[in-house]
Amino acid sequence: MKYTFPKEFWWGSSASGPQTEGRVEGDGKGENIWDYWFELEPEKFFNQVGPNKTSRVYEKFREDIQLMKQIGHNSFRTSIQWSRLIPEGTGAVNQAAVDFYNQYIDELIANDIEPFLNLYHFDMPLPLQEKGGWTNRETVDAYVAYAKTCFELFGDRVKKWFTHNEPIVPVEGGYLYQFHYPKHVIMEEAVMVGYHENLASAKAIKAYRELGLDGEIGIILNLTPSYPRDENNPDDVKAAEIADVFFNRSFLDPAVKGEFPVELVAVVKELDIAPEVQAGDLEIIKNNTVDLLGINYYQPRRIKAKETPIDPSHGPMPDDYFDYYDLPGKKINPYRGWEIYEKGIYDILTNTRENYGNIRCFISENGMGVEGEERYINQDGQIEDDYRIEFVSDHLKYVHQAIQEGTNCLGYHMWTCMDNWSWTNAYKNRYGFISVDITNEGKRTIKKSGHWFKTVADNHGFTE
Ligand code: BG6
Repeated sequence: MKYTFPKEFWWGSSASGPQTEGRVEGDGKGENIWDYWFELEPEKFFNQVGPNKTSRVYEKFREDIQLMKQIGHNSFRTSIQWSRLIPEGTGAVNQAAVDFYNQYIDELIANDIEPFLNLYHFDMPLPLQEKGGWTNRETVDAYVAYAKTCFELFGDRVKKWFTHNEPIVPVEGGYLYQFHYPKHVIMEEAVMVGYHENLASAKAIKAYRELGLDGEIGIILNLTPSYPRDENNPDDVKAAEIADVFFNRSFLDPAVKGEFPVELVAVVKELDIAPEVQAGDLEIIKNNTVDLLGINYYQPRRIKAKETPIDPSHGPMPDDYFDYYDLPGKKINPYRGWEIYEKGIYDILTNTRENYGNIRCFISENGMGVEGEERYINQDGQIEDDYRIEFVSDHLKYVHQAIQEGTNCLGYHMWTCMDNWSWTNAYKNRYGFISVDITNEGKRTIKKSGHWFKTVADNHGFTE
């Protein structure tokens, strides 16, 4: 069967500043929570590799862009590092960062690769975290000032902007499940973080539109469809719905519809942990919805009604409302431990079409992290990652089906281009179309999947 995509489809990949740039002497970058956490507890990071190393894109971006071209990219997303551009989080701009991002953007454009720029990818500047990070409303103002600086500096050339990548992750990681700094477990703070991120996004969108620039602005959300154990069991269905409200709709609804789900408002009121909403906030959220939705999809949630006792060692948690269940016989990526469920991508796209006004959207991340890819190196030094080709093509088939049915999906970006550093997992799981040898000055080699992706982009699809 032939899977043909629209001629103007966006083919590319995604990355982020903090995961790729690294730090070099004299670059003027300030500290963010990752730099700080690594100094504090290096043992928490796989093989004790910190964010200072990463893939050296700060030095190698020109070489990387040539490689992107070779693997058929017409677009590429990364993020500006707030702590690189404005080292203290507020105040003075780092001229070396302006020069770097200008060169990076210009080089992409000169090579016919459209830059998509995201503003926030988990990288809170340390001075702002010391004052509470996203729990502090002042961070919203600091973020909007930072966003405006970015629009003014780069908005003449960059036409696709995103306010956040996966804003639910700082909520979950930093304030519920302890996989991001500051590792609190306080739902009241988690709610504040989520509220302020939503407000910051709407205010940045407002600021962007007030500048009258001729691009579009959106948000990138990791959407994890919640499937109930038994569709005929109302308790399971209700549990899956509330998980969907907490982890998807808490950002999807305000971003696209301009309002919070009533179910979420009811829970935070019932628990008496509603954030402080100032006059005019909800109007700003209502009036500044996104032009474009980036969808990151890796895995679904499998949910059943709450059966286990609530953990009394801490206050309320989202999982007081549901339990996870293990789907028998599910397909799994053994390295990352994540379920592989390709149809999930179709279900998300169908949901955006049916329930979110068929918003302009694209797949902004999807990919497969694999540990120990060196064992797949062939005689020519290339990684033969057939599993990644299978993963991407299986998901693309469902994207194709959704488009056939009328979903407004405009592109597919794989996570990621070059293998990159990932939060506490560092270089454990490799995701790239291109391998990076961190023991050999970051030497790049295109994997089999990179060459395959070029044929897909060139042919506007593939046959299978
Ligand atoms: C996404 C993030 O959630 O998943 C990326 O936007 C991240 O920053 C990617 O690297 C893969 O996750 P992980 O934890 O396996 O690196």
